[in-house]
Amino acid sequence: MKKLIAVLTALCLVLSLAAAVAENVTTIEAGKLLYSTSPDFPPFEYRDDNDNIVGIEPELMELIAGKLGLTAEAVPMDFDGALLAARVDQGAKVDAVVSGVTVREDRKLIFDFTDTYVSITQAIVSKDGAITEEQLKDVNIGVQSGTTGMIYAEDDYPNVTKYETYSLAFQALQNGQVDCVLLDDMVGNAYVKKLPGLGMQPTSYEKEDFAFGVNKGNTALVEAINAALAELKADGTVDAIIAKYNEAE
Ligand code: ARG
Repeated sequence: MKKLIAVLTALCLVLSLAAAVAENVTTIEAGKLLYSTSPDFPPFEYRDDNDNIVGIEPELMELIAGKLGLTAEAVPMDFDGALLAARVDQGAKVDAVVSGVTVREDRKLIFDFTDTYVSITQAIVSKDGAITEEQLKDVNIGVQSGTTGMIYAEDDYPNVTKYETYSLAFQALQNGQVDCVLLDDMVGNAYVKKLPGLGMQPTSYEKEDFAFGVNKGNTALVEAINAALAELKADGTVDAIIAKYNEAE
């Protein structure tokens, strides 16, 4: 009985905490949680056959916003644009960038990141998966502009071609304009499943953690999203959503 009371008390505390945090939240458009996203990034965000933006992150955002009494709304653009749109120093048009964003020290200066919810590493997608990390110095590497894949490739290798979207990068790979695409492994895997004749090789780049990049200074929103995310992690929803889209793609 004592234990039960303790558990119930703890539960009430958590519930009222989440509610209290949500009450202080202000967003750019009242009642909405606007987020920028580059929907070329399956299974995280992509367009389905009806052109709707779907995936792990849109589904998470819908659930998180719901817990905060808000309606989530995706604002699609390329990745560079998505980062820019959530920057307070650039006149933020959205409350957060939700676009498979890797937490990095330089990005922490621009955004207030939420807790992370998944990790990836960079991988190399090429025809038949023939290109290995040792060969990257001798080939033309396709990347999406503004991504960690771009940053690593430009730091370490001589021939890098930037594309606004991964859709364009993979078209270039299929046309033979680049020899490989360097990108997040879960996403590389989704493209390998979707497009014929491609394969993937690992790299030795360090692990990257994804989080949502909230407007710098909007602490109430970060805390509210973290509270909601913690609930979705604790009850297994986050893992279930990731598993669902990994199978679908
Ligand atoms: N995780 C990488 C980064 O943060 C790539 C993200 C690209 N996202 C996208 N939706 N295309 O730089």
